[in-house]
Amino acid sequence: MRIAFAVVSVVLALPLTQSRVAAQSNQATSSGDPGAGASTYAFGNTSCSNCHGRQAEGAWGPALAGRNLTVEHVRQAVRDPVGRMASFNEHNVTEQEIVDMTAYFNSLPPSPGPSPWRVEWPADGPQGQQVAGVIGCLQCHGAAISTPRHGAGEVGGDFEWFKRMVYEHTTTQRAQWSQLDPNVPSSTPRPAGPWGRVRMGNYDSDRVPESLLQQIWTWMNDLGITVPLVGRLTPGKAGDDGVTYELNVSNGAVRDKGLTAEDVTIALAVPAGASVVSTTGTAYAGIRQGDANGDLAVWEVSRLAPGDSQRFTITLSRAADEELRGTIEYVKPEIPGGDVINIRPPVRREGRPPG
Ligand code: HEC
Ligand code: HEC
Repeated sequence: MRIAFAVVSVVLALPLTQSRVAAQSNQATSSGDPGAGASTYAFGNTSCSNCHGRQAEGAWGPALAGRNLTVEHVRQAVRDPVGRMASFNEHNVTEQEIVDMTAYFNSLPPSPGPSPWRVEWPADGPQGQQVAGVIGCLQCHGAAISTPRHGAGEVGGDFEWFKRMVYEHTTTQRAQWSQLDPNVPSSTPRPAGPWGRVRMGNYDSDRVPESLLQQIWTWMNDLGITVPLVGRLTPGKAGDDGVTYELNVSNGAVRDKGLTAEDVTIALAVPAGASVVSTTGTAYAGIRQGDANGDLAVWEVSRLAPGDSQRFTITLSRAADEELRGTIEYVKPEIPGGDVINIRPPVRREGRPPG
């Protein structure tokens, strides 16, 4: 158990932070806006709540609610942490947001007790998973560390890529976003709009040494680096013989860099009471018996390279905008636990960054 020492040294930094709490002054902040702080803190926006709980009641990280924290204390924990937190900079949260979040924490009643951890992992799992669990990566990325595996597939990332993504996350991530989509500005500190915020902070190699990242990287590769395939349905158009849906399946990886998917199967579940009137797309392979949910309309595509996309249509006997959904799967690269990409019903959604 060579890793145990390094992990322990990461964990040992904890009491330092605790003693800072005792040393802080009792002064509450009056300058922040608790309402604005609440929305900055909210789940999915900054990811703070993944560890500190939805209402800052504590979970994997300590409770922040009702503790009369000073802005200085919160700023220090966020910008220059000593424990297991990444350091969050202006790409992640602004100075004003720190002030507002502090006001929000102080406006809450003290926590009645912490919530369960957002993500648990098996005690007998692979070593890389244990490391990622103890450091805290899994609280945001889940027990199968999906987003980082997906991100590596976008650019064919190697261990050097992975290290940069962890140690210099805020700039590396933004650069990758602008490679994926030229409309995304690579400017700093933070442009407005859905691509504005990088949510993960930067880790420090003193606290999370390269040897630990190597273990996580090995485990991620054992699980399999996934291909960033996306399937999008457009809202149905009514015609003489039924309602036609367009399905666009694309490989969102960066051209000449990302992974290619081979032997791709695209399946749309035919909603109950609807029948398939017609389809387009040379890859159409017909109707197959699905599980309890009924028939599947299936397309088979031999290869989707980065940047490739294919367009299919399906005409159904009735409108099914709320129900039509499906899946995309591929045979290569081989993903031992499988990789199923969901195709969601064609409702309009706000664009948001991958994550
Ligand atoms: C990966 C989980 C994780 C995330 C995400 C996270 N924290 Fe933490 N945070 C912790 C842990 C664990 C501690 C306890 C000290 C340590 O080990 O770093 C902590 C400590 C703190 C403290 C000091 C609390 C004390 O008792 O002194 C503050 C304040 C804080 N975090 C605020 C935030 C804010 C604001 C965000 C979002 C920008 C955030 N944290 C994101 C895990 C996290
Ligand atoms: C606060 C939650 C949080 C924690 C903790 C966290 N991440 Fe992330 N990570 C994210 C989010 C969200 C993204 C997507 C980009 C963004 O918004 O920062 C991301 C992106 C990544 C990427 C790039 C994926 C891509 O799309 O290219 C890698 C690699 C990564 N994380 C690895 C790690 C590792 C390893 C750890 C632990 C050392 C870790 N992360 C801890 C939230 C987190």
